[in-house]
Amino acid sequence: MSRESKIIGVISIKGGVGKTSVTANIGAALAREFGKNVVIVDANFSAPNLGLHFGLTQPTVTLHDVLSNKVDIGDAIHEYDKNLHIVPGSLLNDKVNPYNLREKVKKLKSYYDIILLDSSPNLNDELRAVMLAAEQLIVVTNPDFPTLSTTMHAVKVARQKRVPIMGIILNRVRNKSFELSVEEIEESCGVPVIGVLPENITMLESVAETTPATLYKPNTDVAIEFKKIAASLIDARYDDPRFSTKLKRMFSSDPKKEDVNRDMLRKGVMY
Ligand SMILES: Nc1ncnc2c1ncn2[C@@H]1O[C@H](COP(=O)(O)OP(=O)(O)OP(=O)(O)O)[C@@H](O)[C@H]1O
Ligand SMILES: [Mg+2]
Repeated sequence: MSRESKIIGVISIKGGVGKTSVTANIGAALAREFGKNVVIVDANFSAPNLGLHFGLTQPTVTLHDVLSNKVDIGDAIHEYDKNLHIVPGSLLNDKVNPYNLREKVKKLKSYYDIILLDSSPNLNDELRAVMLAAEQLIVVTNPDFPTLSTTMHAVKVARQKRVPIMGIILNRVRNKSFELSVEEIEESCGVPVIGVLPENITMLESVAETTPATLYKPNTDVAIEFKKIAASLIDARYDDPRFSTKLKRMFSSDPKKEDVNRDMLRKGVMY
């Protein structure tokens, strides 16, 4: 009865690195570009804001109601699109038992191809509950030393809990010489980088427009990278439609490191 579904947790133990943005955009790409049935769950219980990315300012039923056993998880699903659903959190910050998450989220497996869990940045019961509920993890990081040290820690905790890591997504890259490179991050963490997202004003603009950047401006660099990452999570192909990329490929034989890593991920290699 259960379809081939995946529960993917998106984590970091540093705030503001881009977990919610990454979760919203990968979910949107999987649904819109690849036709998957997707639900995104806001498991950042103490500071939920995923709903705002989709225009859900005052959701009536939330994950908090589900975790406190007031309603079934099906009643907390908000339909953003036919195949893109959201389970938002309560902005009122009601107290819940995060460890109910695993059992509640499991029920979604029969109905969705992909279940994405946005998480809290604090290494507390909230983040542990996501690690326990997820079958696989994506770690989001930024190209600076303070974030790297927390990313190494996140990888260590995930390994202790034996949750496979699909890869690292490197966000907010400005291509400055002082930034950490993909290789430095991979070497320090022992996990491949499966996506490199540029710093892009569209990401901020799209939040104001309550539409993920992948849908709001689908041809921007950042949106295209989200689609490439989404494709690799479901073993689908996505050809970069930009002329400049096609041109670069004609003159350079070196594929990008993240493209090579995405090919490995398609083969099911995890860390
Ligand atoms: N690639 C990007 N370019 C520009 N701005 C970005 C990018 N990614 C994220 N942002 C912005 O950075 C801010 C933090 O992003 P986001 O809320 O996704 O981080 P987070 O890791 O979920 O934070 P928290 O730990 O507080 O939940 C937001 O204002 C978001 O719009
Ligand atoms: Mg967040």
